[in-house]
Amino acid sequence: MGNLYVFDHPLIQHKLSYIRDKNTGTKEFRELVDEVAMLMAYEITRNMPLEEIEVETPVTKCKSKVISGKKVGLVPILRAGIGMVDGVLKLIPAAKVGHVGLYRDPDTLQPIEYYLKLPSDVTEREFIVIDPMLATGGSAVAALTALKKRGARHIKLMCLVSAPQGIEKVQEEHPDVDIYVAAVDEGLNDHGYIVPGLGDAGDRLFGTK
Ligand code: PRP
Ligand code: URA
Repeated sequence: MGNLYVFDHPLIQHKLSYIRDKNTGTKEFRELVDEVAMLMAYEITRNMPLEEIEVETPVTKCKSKVISGKKVGLVPILRAGIGMVDGVLKLIPAAKVGHVGLYRDPDTLQPIEYYLKLPSDVTEREFIVIDPMLATGGSAVAALTALKKRGARHIKLMCLVSAPQGIEKVQEEHPDVDIYVAAVDEGLNDHGYIVPGLGDAGDRLFGTK
């Protein structure tokens, strides 16, 4: 089964509290999500492999370390995942960005795929699927399935807020995928919203209703 990592860094937890606050407006919400995404990217890259290279400093030659291994691909789940992309790109600027378009049918809560575009070298990359919300897990499972169908083999899932049901579903259907979140909340309400959650992430990011 994939591992679950909950990022408890004080800065992430502090900013998440203001993201949750219903009185936080669109501009500040967007900025905070961007900042937390960057901090989460810092944590998620902690175990990246390194290799030694030779560098010539103004003083002498020396061995120094650079990141090696597979190149990174980011895949935000549209639309709310877009809000976390720039924050991650601040730390992994050379990452290629694919997109998977999914929305939840409000009645059935089933994910409907409407768009998919991935980098061409899909088998060569280590992917991070990004979405602020992991609720029932339907969208994340559909996104991971879509990536694997196109040849992706190494995938991580990064979400801001999660519900136990969503974590369980991803672990069941994609046991090879590690999950990285900033919070595991109590559960879901009758409309499939995370409780206490932060409301509708897409609407709060983009100022829609
Ligand atoms: C939200 C969220 C996730 C999904 C999570 O997207 O951004 O993609 O719901 O719910 P699930 O785990 O139950 O599938 P939504 O469908 O509201 O679309 P949007 O991003 O376009 O607003
Ligand atoms: N999608 C959201 O935007 N929020 C939730 O709480 C659940 C799904």
